[in-house]
Amino acid sequence: MSDLKITGLHKHYGTYHAVKGIDLEVPSGEFTVLVGPSGCGKSTLLRTIAGLEEASAGTVEIGGQNVTWARPRDRDIAMVFQNYALYPYLNVYENIAFGLRARKVASAQIDKRVKRAADMLGIAQLLQRFPRELSGGQRQRVAIGRAIVRDALLFLFDEPLSNLDAQLRDDMRVEIKRLHQELGRTIIYVTHDQIEAMTLADRIALLRDGRIEQLGTPLDLFERPATRFVAGFLGSPKMNFLPATVEAGEVTLRDGTKLTLPTGRKAPNGQAIILGLRPQHIAKASASAAPGHVQLPSTIELVQPTGSRVQVSMPLGGISITAEFAAHEVTAPGEQVRIDIDMNRAVLIDPQTDKVI
Ligand SMILES: Nc1ncnc2c1ncn2[C@@H]1O[C@H](COP(=O)(O)OP(=O)(O)O)[C@@H](O)[C@H]1O
Ligand SMILES: [Mg+2]
Repeated sequence: MSDLKITGLHKHYGTYHAVKGIDLEVPSGEFTVLVGPSGCGKSTLLRTIAGLEEASAGTVEIGGQNVTWARPRDRDIAMVFQNYALYPYLNVYENIAFGLRARKVASAQIDKRVKRAADMLGIAQLLQRFPRELSGGQRQRVAIGRAIVRDALLFLFDEPLSNLDAQLRDDMRVEIKRLHQELGRTIIYVTHDQIEAMTLADRIALLRDGRIEQLGTPLDLFERPATRFVAGFLGSPKMNFLPATVEAGEVTLRDGTKLTLPTGRKAPNGQAIILGLRPQHIAKASASAAPGHVQLPSTIELVQPTGSRVQVSMPLGGISITAEFAAHEVTAPGEQVRIDIDMNRAVLIDPQTDKVI
C-alpha cells in the first residue's frame, strides 16, 4: 500500500508557478528524498503535503484518504523543520511531550514514548534541561524526538541538518538512517545536498523548476541519468561535459581528439553530442587499456587533495576537465600523465534536448 499519493499537484503563489504538476506515490516504509537546487519547489511540495500550503490543483492522499482540503492536524503526519523552534520555557521532556499532551494522550503513555524516543536519540540524560542549555545538535535531536513520539503515518523532514556544522551533519545523517531502520516509517525528506540524498534515500525524486526531473533509486539516477541536469547534479566532483561529434562509433572532441566507443555501444551517427565523463572514470593509466577504455597523454594543471583521493584538472578536448586519482598517484602540476578513460561509463547527451541518448 502507498502511504502517500500525489496526483497532478500544482501550487501557485499569486502569479508564480512554484509546483508544476507533480505525481508521486510513496510505498509504506520507504525513505523518499526530494532533492534539487534552492528554489526548485521542494519546501512548497512538502508544505502542501503537510497542509501548511493549499494546493492550487491536484490531490494529496495520505494513507489512502484524500486530505487535499484537510487541516494539517487532521493529516496523519509529523514534521521536522530546518528551524527547529523549540518552546524555550519548556524543558526537553515537555518539548517532546507537547504534541502528545495536546492530543490528550494519557500521562503513562506519554512517559513511555518520550523516554523511548530520548533513548533512541541519545538524549535521555538531557530531559530536564531547557533549550538554551543545549547545543545545536542536541536541539535538533529534541526536534526529531518531538516528531517520532507521534504515531504518525508519514514523517516529513525539511532540511533538518542544514543548520548544523559538517561533522555533526554526518553524525545526524547516520542517526536518521538508523532511526528509519528501527522505526520502519515512511519518510519524505527534503534536502538540496546530493550527498545527503544519495546516502539516505531508498528513492530520490530530483526536482527541477517545480517538476520531477527523474525518480529512482540513488544508483539508478547516478548510473542511468535521464538528462544532463541529473548527470550534473549528482556526483562529486561534477561530471565533465565535453562538446563533441559522434560518427561510426567514434567520438571526436573539439580539438580533434578521438575517443572510440566500446563495441556494440548504441550511438547516433554524424551528430553533435555532449560527452559526459565522471571524474571517477578517468584514471591514471597503469596497464594497457582494458576493453572499452581509451588512453591518452595529458598534463596535470591543478591538484586538489581531499585525503585519500586527489582531484586533478587537466586539458582534454580543448577544455579543462577534472579527474580523481588516488593521492599517491600524483606528484605535482606540470606532470605528464597517461590517462585512462572508461568509455563503458561515458554518457552521451543530445545537446538539443539535454536528454541522455
Ligand atoms: N509564500 C511564498 N510566496 C511567494 N513565493 C514563494 C513563497 N514560498 C516560496 N516561494 C517561491 O517558490 C519557489 C520555490 O520555493 P521553495 O519551495 O521554498 O523552494 P526550495 O525549498 O526548493 O528551495 C521559490 O522561487 C520561492 O521564492
Ligand atoms: Mg526549502
